[in-house]
Amino acid sequence: MYIGKDVPHDSARGHVTGQSMYIDDLPPMPGELLVDFIWSPLAHARIRGIDFGDALALPGVVALYTHRDLAHNALGPILHDEPLLVEEVCTFRGQPIVVIAAESRQAIAAAKQAIRIDYEELKPILTIEDAIAAQSFIGDTRYIRRGDVETALAAAEHVIDGIFRSAGQDHFYLESQAAIVYPGEHGSLTVHSSTQHPTEVQEVIAHLLGIDMSQVVVNTKRMGGAFGGKEAQASHPAAMAALVARTTRRAARIVYDKDSDMHVTGKRHPFQNRYRVGFSRGGEITALKVDLYSDGGAYADLSPAVMARAMTHAENAYFIPHIEIRGTVCRTNLPPNTAFRGFGGPQGVSNIENILEEIAAFLKKDALDVRRANCYGVDTRNTTPYEQVVENNTLPRLFTELEERCDYRARMSAVRTFNDSSPTQLKGLSMTAVKFGISFNTKFLNQANALVNVYLDGSVQVSTGATEMGQGVNTKIRQLVADTLGVALERVVVMQTSTEKNNNTSATAASSAADLNGGAAVDACKRIRARLDAIASKHGPSLPFEALVKLAYQERVSLGERGFYATPRLDWDWTSGRGTPFLYFTMGTACAEVLIDRFTGELKVLRADVLMDIGRPINPGVDRGQLVGAFIQGLGWVTTEELRYTDAGELLSHSPTTYKIPNINDLPPEFHLDWIEHDNPVNVAGSKAVGEPPLLMAISVWCAVKHALGFVSNGEIAKLRLPASNEEILSRLMEYSRKGAAAIG
Ligand code: HPA
Ligand code: MOS
Repeated sequence: MYIGKDVPHDSARGHVTGQSMYIDDLPPMPGELLVDFIWSPLAHARIRGIDFGDALALPGVVALYTHRDLAHNALGPILHDEPLLVEEVCTFRGQPIVVIAAESRQAIAAAKQAIRIDYEELKPILTIEDAIAAQSFIGDTRYIRRGDVETALAAAEHVIDGIFRSAGQDHFYLESQAAIVYPGEHGSLTVHSSTQHPTEVQEVIAHLLGIDMSQVVVNTKRMGGAFGGKEAQASHPAAMAALVARTTRRAARIVYDKDSDMHVTGKRHPFQNRYRVGFSRGGEITALKVDLYSDGGAYADLSPAVMARAMTHAENAYFIPHIEIRGTVCRTNLPPNTAFRGFGGPQGVSNIENILEEIAAFLKKDALDVRRANCYGVDTRNTTPYEQVVENNTLPRLFTELEERCDYRARMSAVRTFNDSSPTQLKGLSMTAVKFGISFNTKFLNQANALVNVYLDGSVQVSTGATEMGQGVNTKIRQLVADTLGVALERVVVMQTSTEKNNNTSATAASSAADLNGGAAVDACKRIRARLDAIASKHGPSLPFEALVKLAYQERVSLGERGFYATPRLDWDWTSGRGTPFLYFTMGTACAEVLIDRFTGELKVLRADVLMDIGRPINPGVDRGQLVGAFIQGLGWVTTEELRYTDAGELLSHSPTTYKIPNINDLPPEFHLDWIEHDNPVNVAGSKAVGEPPLLMAISVWCAVKHALGFVSNGEIAKLRLPASNEEILSRLMEYSRKGAAAIG
């Protein structure tokens, strides 16, 4: 058996030896063209005219394109509201206007110089506040409601209200957006794309070029990271290269450089949430009203679905009897914000965890006690605001076990003592939870197919719609196939993802690629195994797999199968805001301790403990990697990663020199990650999805900073935006010391 074992990641050797192939590692084809584009330098502008000048006559420049060269000019995963190329009005800085195909980078640079675009600058909307003032929204406000929130707020012993802001985040995948397109016979195209969603790339190319999807094959070997950034936005570069390949009949390559990638692509959605919470003197929340606003950028992209996930995570691990959650996506003149690991979940969860810290500060209670008082119950108090029952609830157990394991109570009193005595430093400690819903919150996306081919020598190829972005989905699928067929792992190969083998696939997203595609692969393998078992019962049950395969072939029994999986039980209705959007929840608790320099605002995470319920891991080593990586990526979001823009909407932090992702020195010196033994009977091999949920565990670090600031905030509830950058922390420290001095003086 391979399931449950630390089988090495199938690219581990390739990655460390440099042999793993990425898009730009594909060798150049004779006649291949490089593709780039001119993008709007302004956040909002009308194009008065485009003058190509002598660009087309420059050596090496082969073709120039505008929106007029496309059969259709609308894409977008939900609303199809986004032009690939600007028609008249540029609505964000970075929006493609002219596509350039040339034989060299120098020729592209010369073409960019030669082309003149005349802009009439228009007033942009660049913040959520401005969008609300202008009533600039994408789609309608949506609601999830339970009980009678107004009456319960009026009757509450205590009420707090406020505004909580969380900022965006760049995906910072190591491999930028990239695609290569090869023209084939009769206008067909073969595309290699660094995408989480080959089917969407196929669909977008076919639509924009006015050809059948059957004329376009999209292949994805692997991505050098994606994190949601290649769920919807890999389509744009691939479509530009496809336009070039189709019209020139030459291979076309597009690879964004890092700075351009950061300028032109969308990011995690910034949120601004207004809340009003009612609670008892014991800290039990009786009512919550929360009004979520996200910055969707210029087009819908995945924003409505991201908002839906924020809304279904707005109560997180806590039972709130009377609740009203409103969600509105703002339209601004920034690049369309998009999927990012957690997909709105972190924005919903950080909001309620902030509220819980505030209730504790207000009541002068320990925040863990407040959280425990509100935690979902196992048999009672276990229905979500959208009326899904929280089954197999391990949250109370996770709170109890982590509290003991990390010695929470003793450390909390040590933090108090430290803060009373240290004139130079400040500590904070907080334990937070996560309950992350697993399934796409768009019901029809919860399906997958798999192709399993068994060859005459007993070796096996499996192909699914899952894309490998480093997360190890191929390794997990390989383990599932080997065990289900009863064949040695070495004999199973997971093939490059291709729309030729697996049609109409969903994005590798929502943490559910192993669940869905693993489920489909197991389905195919079970049917092959049943046919082999029938042969074994005739010829002798002890025959090895290879011998059975030979017999099956001689008896003309099929040795290939296509499997299918559709997640059961799902039922979700937006108009009522009720139903069962998720098959199950991945859960966890995390405790972080931070140290702050009172004079500089410098932040260090001294220790982090994470304890999760991730079911029975198919590959514990791979899952540990996901836990570590997601926590650290979340740490970046809540602390150092700051997107800075000018007043004109120009991104200033567009490279690693100005945008600070965590590095090895940011790892907590004491860092414990573990999970409990707990079966998840509703999912493949009893496993649970792990890609996104541990990112939200880093919210504990942010809450620990807030907790620390509460020691110097002169009895007020400390306010803190997210990220808690050094600068943000220092601003708060200075504000509180000014106010403290004024009160004394
Ligand atoms: N996660 C990621 N992508 C999605 C989702 C989701 O929940 N819903 C639609 N696309
Ligand atoms: Mo992921 S944010 O579901 O692509």
